[in-house]
Amino acid sequence: MNARELKNKFIEFFVSQGHVEIPSASLVPENDPTTLFISAGMHPLVPYLLGTPHPLGKRLVDVQKCVRTGDIEEVGDTYHHTFFEMLGNWSLGDYFKEDAIKFSYQFLTSVLGFDPKRLSVTVFAGDQNAPKDEESSKIWQSLGITNISYLPKENNWWGPAGTTGPCGPDTEMFLDGVEVWNDVFMQYNKTADGKFELLPKPNVDTGMGVERTVAFLNGFNDDYLSSIWQPIIKKIEELSNKEYSQDPKPFRVIADHIRTAVFMIADGVEPSNKEAGYVLRRVIRRSIRQAKLLGINTNFTKIIAQAVIDNKDNYAGIYPELNDNQNKIFEILENEETKFRKTLDRGLNEINKLITRQHNVSGKEAFDLYQSFGFPVEMIQEELQKNNLSLNLEEFNQCKDEHIKQSQTLSAGKFKSGLADHSEIITKYHTTTHLLHASLRKVLGDHVQQSGSNITAERLRFDFSHDQKLTEEQLKQITDLVNDQISRKLVVTKETMPFVQAQAENALAFFGTKYPEIVSVYTIGDFSKEVCTGPHIENTQILGKFEIIKEESAGSGKRRVYAILH
Ligand code: SER
Repeated sequence: MNARELKNKFIEFFVSQGHVEIPSASLVPENDPTTLFISAGMHPLVPYLLGTPHPLGKRLVDVQKCVRTGDIEEVGDTYHHTFFEMLGNWSLGDYFKEDAIKFSYQFLTSVLGFDPKRLSVTVFAGDQNAPKDEESSKIWQSLGITNISYLPKENNWWGPAGTTGPCGPDTEMFLDGVEVWNDVFMQYNKTADGKFELLPKPNVDTGMGVERTVAFLNGFNDDYLSSIWQPIIKKIEELSNKEYSQDPKPFRVIADHIRTAVFMIADGVEPSNKEAGYVLRRVIRRSIRQAKLLGINTNFTKIIAQAVIDNKDNYAGIYPELNDNQNKIFEILENEETKFRKTLDRGLNEINKLITRQHNVSGKEAFDLYQSFGFPVEMIQEELQKNNLSLNLEEFNQCKDEHIKQSQTLSAGKFKSGLADHSEIITKYHTTTHLLHASLRKVLGDHVQQSGSNITAERLRFDFSHDQKLTEEQLKQITDLVNDQISRKLVVTKETMPFVQAQAENALAFFGTKYPEIVSVYTIGDFSKEVCTGPHIENTQILGKFEIIKEESAGSGKRRVYAILH
């Protein structure tokens, strides 16, 4: 079964159950300045999930285009994608858990024909905000499903999509252990002050990823083997004269990123240096870099875009915006590619001149290249490595920080949103610092105490007591531990309590610091607890990927690490 057939079957099934098909909304949110792209099927439906009546009724079904770039560094494995399609059925205050679960079960077993024995599910275990979801569990049992796990909020809760809005417990379905579908029971509205209010009428939001499901239906454990991707991959093979099976990663990145660029441009995004336009520019540039690694040295993005638009198993004829904007898509890609290839050539030239002349490229020079040519810092590092040299990343980052500070002073007040973005990244690094602190203590021991912390928009720096250089193995363990907590989607909560109580509860606090009588304590899932003034993000899942870029001494008995989020 290909993607087109899967989508048709999904829509047909839910229409036969009284749902009305609605078209996919644009990837660019209409009324939501808080996010750059639609990231889930429920996103464009938020006003209706909050109670505004939908003109087409209470039962809807759709295939929604989505973009998520939080995991962009993960693209290259078998299942991460920056663009994807999500199948969803919706009840706006109409049916609830019983019908939703029965529909899902029927679609998986009767329509797609999966043996129920292969199906396992998870349901919400309950916490202080909402009870254990016994109801869903009973419904699954009545259908003969016994493989049921109860999991906490990190796993079996969805939303809100931003910081506030509809959310609730969910039940996830797995076939042979692979997650295929998520039914969310939106019973609550999370308010700005962190309360969970019951919604006047509960809703159902479900999401099934097209890419994963199609691969699974065809017995592939690599999404990119399905016919959604193969015509695109084949084109890259032709252009590079290399085979996907030899080294799939660059093929996947190129296919994924160009497909995303095609859909973004079709929805009106144009390359720029900020916000959505910057994300577009970034995916195009990243794909060109991978193409260079494959030895594709002439413009190719247009050719790949054509393969996306023409894909008869999935897109051709389904998304008219692709055909209607074909020329614009080609033109934009061609322009960006030509410009960026020039940039790369000029930058490489400059770097090699510097290397020949002075056998070195200083952090400041690297920053100038980055700043004036938009030359990716990883490529500067690679060029230096070829010559057995390495980049002074600290100096590079200092220059970058100074530059950011200067431009912020210049633009203070003028570009509020830029500053808001800035503070969001700072908040992310702040929460990451707590994860790092707890991880250091778990790996190295409880003698680890924070002795300094410094955060910029580009990185965090953390000093702590420990008297030996960290080994590669320790650095890896710490990095993995932090990344594990990110993927566990841990919820960050804040409590206010007397300082003595915080100490009694083993919250980390700094020796020698004077604390007020009443303090706030931030808890990250079951992993970290620290006395802190905040602010912090709400869930670790938005942190992306954590990487330690440097470890060094910070004076006697002290070490310092620099780390970044991708
Ligand atoms: N909103 C849920 C998700 O994205 C279900 O559609 O998984």
